[in-house]
Amino acid sequence: MESEPRLAIRGVSVRFGGVEALADVSFEVGAGEILGVIGPNGAGKTTLFNTISGLVRRYEGEIHLDGRPLRGLPPQRIVAHGLARTFQNIRLFKSLTVLDNVLAGQHRHIVETVLDSALHTPRYHREEALATRRALQVLHFVGLGATDPGALATSLPYGAQRRLEIARALAAYPRVLMLDEPAAGLNTGESWELATMIRRIRATGLAVMLVEHDMRVVMSICDRIVVLNFGRVIAQGTPAQVRADPAVVAAYLGDAAQP
Ligand SMILES: Nc1ncnc2c1ncn2[C@@H]1O[C@H](COP(=O)(O)OP(=O)(O)OP(=O)(O)O)[C@@H](O)[C@H]1O
Ligand SMILES: [Mg+2]
Repeated sequence: MESEPRLAIRGVSVRFGGVEALADVSFEVGAGEILGVIGPNGAGKTTLFNTISGLVRRYEGEIHLDGRPLRGLPPQRIVAHGLARTFQNIRLFKSLTVLDNVLAGQHRHIVETVLDSALHTPRYHREEALATRRALQVLHFVGLGATDPGALATSLPYGAQRRLEIARALAAYPRVLMLDEPAAGLNTGESWELATMIRRIRATGLAVMLVEHDMRVVMSICDRIVVLNFGRVIAQGTPAQVRADPAVVAAYLGDAAQP
């Protein structure tokens, strides 16, 4: 692991009226690591992602990405700093093609002025070609290389739409990727393919945060797991440690603890 964590969460608390959605949550995620975040419905997992990605603006505590504080930054700036995510419910642009959905996820590192784009200068065309080539590479990486990039996103089967969401997040070239229940609605075979893909994402050196209810996927790919219950971290450790923790079994795992 690099000496500095990619993402550091320190003492984060979030309140919605009388609900304490997150209470003094602290953990770190390093490069090349998959961190699982598990817990019962309503435990605060999505709120955690929403807070890190800038959708929840009012919180106590500190969140640092590569050592930089994220407080106060709007979501697009946080993406530009290197954080991308997917959503629990698929959020694709329904009227856009597969390719355009991925292009929409790209944060343009490349220099392109408003004038270039308005005048369709040679530079504009070069940048467009480069962006398209990168988008196609990302589609290939997530296993959609054989899919027609010109097809409407909504014409894809459900499992492919889930992959497309991940492609759109990867297109931002993030340093931290947050996946909110990527296996939801997938069959067993698709879930294992997804697990393989997430391992390949880790191998590129990204830090991955995975919220997931499919314990077979979580236990087989996570390096470490944080367990939330009523907004609090009740355990963190390796899959083996977490699975053997009586508090985790009582709050969430129950019989699911058996692999
Ligand atoms: N925008 C909001 N306004 C008010 N309350 C909210 C809001 N978002 C979440 N909550 C509440 O915060 C708590 C945590 O919800 P959250 O969606 O983070 O849970 P979760 O762990 O993602 O659950 P699930 O596994 O069902 O997706 C719940 O009590 C929820 O009702
Ligand atoms: Mg959720």
